[in-house]
Amino acid sequence: MEFPRILNELKGWLSRNRIVDRLYPTSMREISVLKLFEPFRLKEIELKNRIAVAPMCQYSCEDGYVNDWHLVHLGSRAVGGAGLVVVEATAVSAEGRISPSCSGIYHDGHVDAFARINRFIKQFGAVPGIQLAHAGRKGSAQRPWEGDSHIPDHAGGWPTIAPSAIAHGGNLDKVPTEMSIDDIHRIQDAFVTGAKRALAAGFEWLELHFAHGYLAHEFYSPISNHRHDRFGGSFENRTRFLRETLQRVRSVWPERFPLTARLSVTDWVDGGVTIEESIELINHFRTDGLDLVDISHGFVIPDISPIPWGPGFMVPISHRIREATGMPTAVGWFITDPHQAEQVIANGEADLVMLARELLRDPYWPYHAAVALKASEPQSMLPPQYARAVS
Ligand SMILES: Cc1cc2nc3c(=O)[nH]c(=O)nc-3n(C[C@H](O)[C@H](O)[C@H](O)COP(=O)(O)O)c2cc1C
Repeated sequence: MEFPRILNELKGWLSRNRIVDRLYPTSMREISVLKLFEPFRLKEIELKNRIAVAPMCQYSCEDGYVNDWHLVHLGSRAVGGAGLVVVEATAVSAEGRISPSCSGIYHDGHVDAFARINRFIKQFGAVPGIQLAHAGRKGSAQRPWEGDSHIPDHAGGWPTIAPSAIAHGGNLDKVPTEMSIDDIHRIQDAFVTGAKRALAAGFEWLELHFAHGYLAHEFYSPISNHRHDRFGGSFENRTRFLRETLQRVRSVWPERFPLTARLSVTDWVDGGVTIEESIELINHFRTDGLDLVDISHGFVIPDISPIPWGPGFMVPISHRIREATGMPTAVGWFITDPHQAEQVIANGEADLVMLARELLRDPYWPYHAAVALKASEPQSMLPPQYARAVS
């Protein structure tokens, strides 16, 4: 018997006896050829695929408490099949909120509100993560749909703090108070307490917000940091707040769970943060205990005109940083197309795609991506309750 015929007979026998099916479920077999649907293991956490829900402020809390809105918003994206669901920028202290309606983790009572949501997310095989944040000089602002401007102290706002007494500019013209060394330690303590509360609430993935012109980025960028003490000036001094905060959070966040950071790796302007120094910083972060960097950019100044907007424009930067540092990366920004997302992972440009607006438009994007990429069991992205939606 010639070789192709033997092979065909063998395939027929395996199929008739359902040998492959018995070894592992069809859904895993079909979908696993696509890199976007391959599991991703970091420390002791395994994400079922490479699709992450990016942190997105919902401006829907009272005194920092998440509620039914967040259960439905985050829960539907877990039901929709994302492997990781990261809760919005959550303030570690009340004055660290962007707006009065932002989420917080500065009361013990916040823990139970998050715990309910996390239990739901986990039921659908997704991992719950949280972004811990302090808004710095960009705090005390209106919700975007109410104008995005600073709220005066007499109208429900509050005094803001930052590395230097320099206003952000544009709509955000409140001049912050320069932080004392005691203020710095108080906020670092708040990050540590926030991390402990996040653990108690059942989060298994922690992201530190070191991006988008908020407090940590304000320390990192020479544009917003004009200090002359050990927290300003040289690269070592400007990065001290970030590194110390990371080290202190690592000391209380279990080794088995990923500790990650979203970093603005460039300010896109002369005199701002550069990709080269971010590569150096990420190398330091590795020794400080970071497990993954979520690549982002900009927003330490109001002018966004220098940003080279376009589909996946941060992907080459993620690739460069991943190659230069060996640090796993997540990347987002205008990733909307399933083929584009598949290529990012298949080409080793990032380990995760972090989708924001596309997942607002379509919580079932993971299912739709499986259909578009011709995964033969796309319904495995949906819970059994929704199986009949697939004909
Ligand atoms: C409604 C909304 C809220 C956001 N809130 C946050 C946030 O809390 N923390 C953060 O780091 N980025 C935040 N972002 C930025 C997103 O996480 C994401 O980086 C950005 O929208 C680019 O991804 P996209 O092109 O997929 O939307 C927000 C974006 C949107 C649209």
